[in-house]
Amino acid sequence: MSYVYLNGDFLEQDKAFVSVLDRGFLLGDGIYEVIPAFNGKLFRLEQHLQRLQNSLDAIHLVNPLQNNEWENVLRQIVEKNGRGNLSIYLQITRGVAARDHTFPENTHPTVYIMSNPITPVKDKIRTGVSAITKDDPRWQHCHIKTISLLANVLLKQEAAQQGREEAILIKDNLLTEGAASNIFIVKDGCIKTPAKSQYILGGITRDLIVELAHINQINCIETAITKTDLFAADEIWLSSSTKEILAVTQLNEQTIGSGLPGPMWQKMTRIYQKFKASLK
Ligand code: PDD
Repeated sequence: MSYVYLNGDFLEQDKAFVSVLDRGFLLGDGIYEVIPAFNGKLFRLEQHLQRLQNSLDAIHLVNPLQNNEWENVLRQIVEKNGRGNLSIYLQITRGVAARDHTFPENTHPTVYIMSNPITPVKDKIRTGVSAITKDDPRWQHCHIKTISLLANVLLKQEAAQQGREEAILIKDNLLTEGAASNIFIVKDGCIKTPAKSQYILGGITRDLIVELAHINQINCIETAITKTDLFAADEIWLSSSTKEILAVTQLNEQTIGSGLPGPMWQKMTRIYQKFKASLK
């Protein structure tokens, strides 16, 4: 049985309930984080807590806990769920109130945390994955990690129905991101990814890849990438906290590069795994 946190209490998951009047349930009025723990150690916690704060600020919600309190609660979730490799899901909604679009007064936010094991799929790492491109129909606040994910859900489902891992999104002929990941391309030895904007979620894994590339003197730029650039890439990768870095080796009907994860992916994955292993 897995243990979750709900509004100050640690509970067995099947004992945790929220009200049908919760604004997360009725209005999608909330934000979330996904924080990985590797070998029981929270990964890039400071960065995840900063993004959590940014999302809360963007929806005008006061942070219900201090960072040291978050760390304490998250560490307990990791302990109670057997340490190991975990994906920790943290959600904050505007709380329980009579249904009305405007913000309620004197309502406490609902805080919920759960964890799931991270199980890397060796075949996907070895062979890469396939993806489709789709027009990006989302709004102008994609930098907020909101629980209102209907567009992302529909896009991911369409990819899944075609047996694909991800939908890679294009807005006004420019690459934005994946339905649940950030996207990189490699061209002539240079790693490229879209600059952060209101049209993408600033991924913690994305930022780490950019940081590690610079530390290791690998050419890496944050720049506009057109649909043509995407299809002409030597390599395409997707990144997220739970998938880490996966090569995209098939896009729509086109094979990318040799059809297997490319040399830059191999290099960056080695660097990334070495960084992970070096953490206390
Ligand atoms: N999603 N962009 C979107 C739209 C995402 O949903 C995610 C991750 C990312 C990558 O962010 P990060 O590297 O911080 O995980 C980019 C998570 C994993 C999810 O919703 O489950």
